[in-house]
Amino acid sequence: MNNNPIGIFDSGLGGLTVVKAIRRLMPNESITYFGDTARVPYGNKSSELIQSYSLQIADFLINYDSKIIIVACNTATALALKVLQDKLTMPVVGVVKPGVEAALKITKNNKIGVIGTLSTIGSDVYKNELELANDAVKVTSRACPLFVPLAEEGWIDNPATKLIAEEYLKELRQANVDTLILGCTHYPLLTDVIQAVMTDKTKLVDSAHAMAVNASDLLVEHNLSAGRNNNGHLKLFVSDFPARFETVAKRFLGEEIANVEKIQIDTI
Ligand code: DGL
Repeated sequence: MNNNPIGIFDSGLGGLTVVKAIRRLMPNESITYFGDTARVPYGNKSSELIQSYSLQIADFLINYDSKIIIVACNTATALALKVLQDKLTMPVVGVVKPGVEAALKITKNNKIGVIGTLSTIGSDVYKNELELANDAVKVTSRACPLFVPLAEEGWIDNPATKLIAEEYLKELRQANVDTLILGCTHYPLLTDVIQAVMTDKTKLVDSAHAMAVNASDLLVEHNLSAGRNNNGHLKLFVSDFPARFETVAKRFLGEEIANVEKIQIDTI
């Protein structure tokens, strides 16, 4: 048993989708979250940069006694998970594997779509993992870089978002995918518009829930689960704009959020 927090990070608010899923599944677990709002987006940055950001944030979370680290960012998972796992002594998990496993369970026609940032799609991490698991699977991938600022901006049901989604998702509709992996933790915030464009013939895979289940198994496996009566608390840190983050976090998580703290990124 271990009541220390789970450390979670993302480039901004996207990782809150994972926080929400974990709070729902394991309310007794405490969470320390870091949203790198000063340096978002990660999706168009080099792997060297993402690896150094990820190592820096992981150290910060470890200083806050995190018992495991969840990389709640597909870009950081694609580009830095291996480096984190090699360098850190604690369990470190990312969002790609749970999303891949969930999609493989859902698909009936073996046509799976993946959307993500330029870096995630460029890394081919999803395509490789899916094809490795099942060589009958046909993967169609598309980078949707504008989805991140739209989600950060809260343009959830804006007509401009619908138009952009129609353009981005055209090929995926033509490819007749029956399953679409939301390969960026920001995208579940745009679920309604993505689902409307893809129609209900396509099942969306939000890796946040799959990630939460995976994290729960990992805690059990390492004997790190919090006590049943532990009152799981949530502590949020960001590298810029704490007030704005607090408003979005409150709305999105549907719970009162105590002070979001700003951390000067060059001091950690
Ligand atoms: N939320 C992040 C992801 O899952 C990336 C968004 C970004 O910083 O570009 O890829």
